[in-house]
Amino acid sequence: MGFFHFDLLKKSSKSKARLGVINTPRGKIHTPAFMPVGTQATVKTMTPDEVARLGAEIILSNTYHLYLRPGMGIIRQAEGLHKFMNWQRPILTDSGGFQVFSLSSLRQITDEGVHFRSHLDGSKHFIGPEQSMEIQAALGSDIAMAFDECSPFPCSYEDALAGLERTTSWAERCLKAPHAPGQVVFGIVQGSVYPELRARSAREITGLDFPGYAIGGLSVGEPKSIMYELLEYTTPLLPENKPRYLMGVGSADCLWEGVAHGIDMFDCVLPTRVARNGTAFTWQGKVVVRNAKYAEDFSPLEPDCDCYTCKHYSRAYLRHLFNAGEILGPRLLTIHNLHFTLSVMERIRRSIKDGCFEEEKNAFLDQYSI
Ligand code: GUN
Ligand code: ZN
Repeated sequence: MGFFHFDLLKKSSKSKARLGVINTPRGKIHTPAFMPVGTQATVKTMTPDEVARLGAEIILSNTYHLYLRPGMGIIRQAEGLHKFMNWQRPILTDSGGFQVFSLSSLRQITDEGVHFRSHLDGSKHFIGPEQSMEIQAALGSDIAMAFDECSPFPCSYEDALAGLERTTSWAERCLKAPHAPGQVVFGIVQGSVYPELRARSAREITGLDFPGYAIGGLSVGEPKSIMYELLEYTTPLLPENKPRYLMGVGSADCLWEGVAHGIDMFDCVLPTRVARNGTAFTWQGKVVVRNAKYAEDFSPLEPDCDCYTCKHYSRAYLRHLFNAGEILGPRLLTIHNLHFTLSVMERIRRSIKDGCFEEEKNAFLDQYSI
């Protein structure tokens, strides 16, 4: 844990927004930060060079997927994930505690861990906290996540309580398990939609000495208003001097709201996933490029955007690529959407620095249609 540290540079006066820097052995992460998702050791359609040039300082990858394929033998032979995929900046790995619940079949959860069948070939596996940490150590990520149980929405109080209790006991076991050199582990707060369970989870998880804390179990299908209420309640329960990470959130409006509630890190498949389906994010909201109204629209997706896509291509051309099933379409929209999302973070950081975060947030939300 020697090198890793978080510097809180500035706090906004009218909201809980904060500006900071996470220092890691593989470089700095300016916060609030968005982490593009590279589930299968690739940010889909992008080379790592492109991702870095778009301004990403950290990416997220997934224990569950990489354990199943290519498997740990190959990751170890490759000497870890950074070398395997040629990304030398920081990587955060999720623990599998979410994907195993959302993707695998025939799950059986015990206090030991989770027995499940692979979504790829039906083969049987077991991952508990020790296995998750062992896999993340082999991946060699800079930030590993504790193995947790993410309650679905909706979830009964009793089930949420059971998940919370397992999450705490698994967090203790994750801290005791071996890590890769220089690797840190973040704890995850659960508790579903129940404020008293969130409070208890926050108390138990922050009672363990993690260098950063995530809020899990949100953005799992609940209305945004419920997510914001729980954030309002939960973030103040986390220590001020450590990074706070809201898992699985990445729509632009939620990024502003999350930051206003004191969140420092986000990840989401949204910008990259919708890009592959032909949806672009702009400062006005979504553009569905397949739409017939763009057939003869020779203007760029966004007039003032300085991404490669907007500098060189029209909406008419992008629409043509998607209609023709051309692979360049998903690539060009991924470039734009990542540029957009990372620009939102840039604008958020700049506005906190300049002392006008709340005004900028309102200005953004006024022109952005959700
Ligand atoms: N990704 C989105 N939500 C969660 C969560 O609650 N736990 C984990 N491990 N990953 C997530
Ligand atoms: Zn663009």
